[in-house]
Amino acid sequence: MTVKTILVEPNQLLRQISKPVKQVGKEEQQLMDDMLETMYAANGIGLAAIQIGIPKRIIVMDISKDENKKEPRYFVNPIIKNKDTIKSTYEEGCLSVPNQFAEIDRPKKCDVEYLDYNGKKKILNAEGLLATCIQHEMDHLEGILFIDYLSKLKKSMIIKKLSKIKSTRIVV
Ligand code: NI
Repeated sequence: MTVKTILVEPNQLLRQISKPVKQVGKEEQQLMDDMLETMYAANGIGLAAIQIGIPKRIIVMDISKDENKKEPRYFVNPIIKNKDTIKSTYEEGCLSVPNQFAEIDRPKKCDVEYLDYNGKKKILNAEGLLATCIQHEMDHLEGILFIDYLSKLKKSMIIKKLSKIKSTRIVV
């Protein structure tokens, strides 16, 4: 397993629409392993393949709070089948938008159909944090970031801040 570099906004790759996976094979499993390792190394709870520059509809997640009891989840070609009209609000962050957080409303519950690590078709009835997290990650597959839900002003302030950090950073 290899820890990969996570792309940071503003990066046009993050705006790409990811392509469906034809078949879950060795290559995809290797990618999922790398994504999980990368996510854990960055202390994230979810990661989409495009965040490491690969435009495939693949997501990894682990929302378990216990460091010693990992509960990795893998989603290939996820599709939302149903979603609640009731919303819930979480303060969201993103590994591609470092150190920025904002309250975002999303459907409280959703049902997601997907293929698992072994390419088996599954359905997840998600609620609460799990539902929010999967919806955040599925947005990545469409090239959407959580800051897109904010006002134009707030969003541009965040992007400006991130650009500044990037342009002044030197490694010697
Ligand atoms: Ni994210």
